[in-house]
Amino acid sequence: MSASIRNLDDLLAEGVSGRRVLVRADLNVPLDKQTGEITDDGRIRAVLPTLGALVQAGAKVVVCSHLGRPKGAPDPQYSLRPVAGRLGELLDAPVHFATDTVGESARATVDALTDGQVALLENLRFNKGETSKDDTERGAFADQLAAFGEAYVDDAFGAVHRKHASVHDVPARLPHVAGRLVLREVEVLSRLTGEPERPYVVVLGGSKVSDKLAVIEALLPKVDRLLIGGGMCFTFLKAQGHEVGTSLLEEEMVETCGNLLSRAEGKILLPVDVVAADAFAPDAAHDTVPADGIPSHRLGLDIGPETVAGFTAALSQAKTVFWNGPMGVFEMPAFANGTRGVAEAITKTDAFTVVGGGDSAAAVRALGLDESSFGHISTGGGASLEYLEGKTLPGIAALEN
Ligand code: 3PG
Ligand code: MG
Repeated sequence: MSASIRNLDDLLAEGVSGRRVLVRADLNVPLDKQTGEITDDGRIRAVLPTLGALVQAGAKVVVCSHLGRPKGAPDPQYSLRPVAGRLGELLDAPVHFATDTVGESARATVDALTDGQVALLENLRFNKGETSKDDTERGAFADQLAAFGEAYVDDAFGAVHRKHASVHDVPARLPHVAGRLVLREVEVLSRLTGEPERPYVVVLGGSKVSDKLAVIEALLPKVDRLLIGGGMCFTFLKAQGHEVGTSLLEEEMVETCGNLLSRAEGKILLPVDVVAADAFAPDAAHDTVPADGIPSHRLGLDIGPETVAGFTAALSQAKTVFWNGPMGVFEMPAFANGTRGVAEAITKTDAFTVVGGGDSAAAVRALGLDESSFGHISTGGGASLEYLEGKTLPGIAALEN
């Protein structure tokens, strides 16, 4: 991270006892649609080092975050209340929950904090100002938030690519530092943008080519191999002239994928076989078929075993690996083997390995893989991709000033 950015240790050295410290965290965790329970608490655990240090130092800690994408007004399904409960369990201390973000409840909750106590404000995105494109509207909301802190800590790595009030405008109003998580994420990812040890192999999955196009463009000149699976592989297979049945296809991207393939000088590896099913359902009839023989009535929901073997061979040579995006519909056991196989291959290399993304990190844990066998599991999906693209990230830029 640029030397001009101060971090949590600098703030702690000044002394924070009795001072109100506003922490932007990314507590955007997946919730079970039926029960509303937290299905993966990785992002809550990731922010504990920063919160623990502030509590220890006697700060009055005011935490804020977004959850999901509510539309600028309160929406109970996106309440952070369950997160406050889980955060309290993990900190082994009560977390005082405000039922609004900058209103009556938030003011009273923050005022009542004593040294070493923690409050969590309700979802930032219940307020239009948080995500507004209008500088004045965002600024007015940032004024209200900034009033809750005497210093600001950004530990929301997963949101640093968003030009939002709590990420971009609050640090302009308060003394600001990077938290432990943001610092570690940037240290690790900068090893990939600098001079990665070679071979450098990147594995990309997920459903849409259009989401990944910028990162593919940026990575192609840097990597030795780019392995592509997930829903987006079908647009590439189509560009190679194969029929893909009813698989996910971005018709308007076929030409772009064709151009990428011809410029890639053989660096891009595509599936040679896929698991094709009758329907997008856990119990759908399915078979492994060659990538150039997908039946017209079937859709590919995973990469096949020969592909896993090929990807494993490429990964076994690697000295640096970055992986973002599942290889198939890993939430359904019948279509989880590709993601599991690639994840296992990554854990077996002696490369420096980085898993990027909320979804891929959740996949690692959902598949029961040992998190400690990866070099680093990033909490940021979009954020880590935009970092690798070399884009200016509003949340990091704001800490530099
Ligand atoms: C994420 O889950 O990628 C981050 O929390 C950012 O959320 P967003 O994509 O809704 O801005
Ligand atoms: Mg996202």
